Amino acid sequence: MMIRLVETGLVLFAFGGLIILVGGFARKPLWKEIGALIAAIMGPLTLACCWFVLLDIRQNETVYWARLMAGDAADFFATGSLGLIVGSGLAVGVLSLENRLASLRVGAIFLALSWIFLFLHPTPHYVPIPGWLDKLVWFMVLVGGAGICVVVFRKLKDRLRSFSMPLFILAGIFPLLSLVTFSAHKQAQVFLDLGSMPMEQRLSMIGCLACHSMNGEGQSNPGGGLEAVMSRTEDDLRGFLLEPTDQNAKQFNIRENPTGDMAGVHLTPGQVNALLEALSKVYGFRQPVSKDVSMEGVESILAARSCLACHSVGDRGAAGGGVGGTLEDAAKLGQETLHAWLLNPSADNAKQLGIRENPVGAMGNFALTEEEADVIVPWVLSLKRK
Ligand code: HEC
Ligand code: HEC
Repeated sequence: MMIRLVETGLVLFAFGGLIILVGGFARKPLWKEIGALIAAIMGPLTLACCWFVLLDIRQNETVYWARLMAGDAADFFATGSLGLIVGSGLAVGVLSLENRLASLRVGAIFLALSWIFLFLHPTPHYVPIPGWLDKLVWFMVLVGGAGICVVVFRKLKDRLRSFSMPLFILAGIFPLLSLVTFSAHKQAQVFLDLGSMPMEQRLSMIGCLACHSMNGEGQSNPGGGLEAVMSRTEDDLRGFLLEPTDQNAKQFNIRENPTGDMAGVHLTPGQVNALLEALSKVYGFRQPVSKDVSMEGVESILAARSCLACHSVGDRGAAGGGVGGTLEDAAKLGQETLHAWLLNPSADNAKQLGIRENPVGAMGNFALTEEEADVIVPWVLSLKRK
């Protein structure tokens, strides 16, 4: 039902844009004002409905959401959203250059109040800034925008008259642009035949990069770098991807404290096979090892945490040192840095400790405990090349 509301809102919003254009070109100020009023009311309302819809589908139809955010439908979706957000602001802008305070008041109030929806509900997409900053940005855009329009009306209207023409043209075009959102939703419903696509595209088209990064591209929050699969076995990954709930993340040793954010990702077995093939071609998986209970100390940690899936030592481990490099090179970091790193091997920490300028961030989920670090650090130091 919410989707129908959004669709109706978009159509009315675009209709408002059309009337602004017709009124502007036919020199009928009243039409222009009515069009701008429709767009200024429908824009913020539709934006608020969109927000709810996105929150809901992120939870339940995560792949659909991910395709809108970062997959094959992302360009359409971004264009449509731009039309909706900018168009709403411009509509109030058009009103600020007209003579009637009443319409401007209504438009500015709708624009400013729409901020409340964005404030009360979490951002339905992952953005690389903290939550409070995200809310502040929206506050500045929506409430600030409405405020500026009122100031323009009161103080600057006469001086800005010459902008009236380009402004109404833009204010007419952006709402029409928002109709591209329909194409985005259409695209996101098309079944993706992953098996026929090149390897990396399989992962990007279906939207995995909305929550994961791959070679530094995409969102590393909340899923982390897909490089992490190098230390997993194919069986564990298959088990998890077929039903990626938080229980399964635990059961298949993916996370000790899972978020469960992938639980709404429903993939067919065929899609899981195609994605696993892509992950294994791009990164490769660890071979299953039978844990040798008699192993102690360093060897047992290396095996349990599969460090050598991403690193090499001597002639063992990942080819060419792997994504993480040879451990002999790490000896020069010194005792303190090594210790701090192994307890918290996040991308941020890699920068802070001077380990990498552009970290891959792949080691984030392989932190050692104090006791393990006490075993591994002296061992790494002992690898120092003489
Ligand atoms: C809504 C965000 C989200 C989307 C979309 C998403 N993931 Fe995830 N993914 C996560 C989270 C979070 C985890 C860690 C498990 C947890 O916390 O529940 C994870 C874990 C994984 C893992 C295990 C990583 C490891 O550490 O070994 C793989 C593999 C994976 N995802 C693949 C995919 C693929 C393939 C797609 C695209 C179809 C995808 N994910 C889409 C959030 C997401
Ligand atoms: C999924 C891949 C992966 C796994 C598994 C992994 N690492 Fe790493 N490691 C990396 C990456 C990548 C870096 C470089 C930092 C970055 O780019 O985020 C790194 C950096 C390091 C460094 C610093 C290296 C330097 O050149 O300065 C040490 C030491 C290290 N890892 C030890 C370990 C140990 C010990 C384990 C097992 C407990 C382990 N790593 C498991 C990927 C991994």
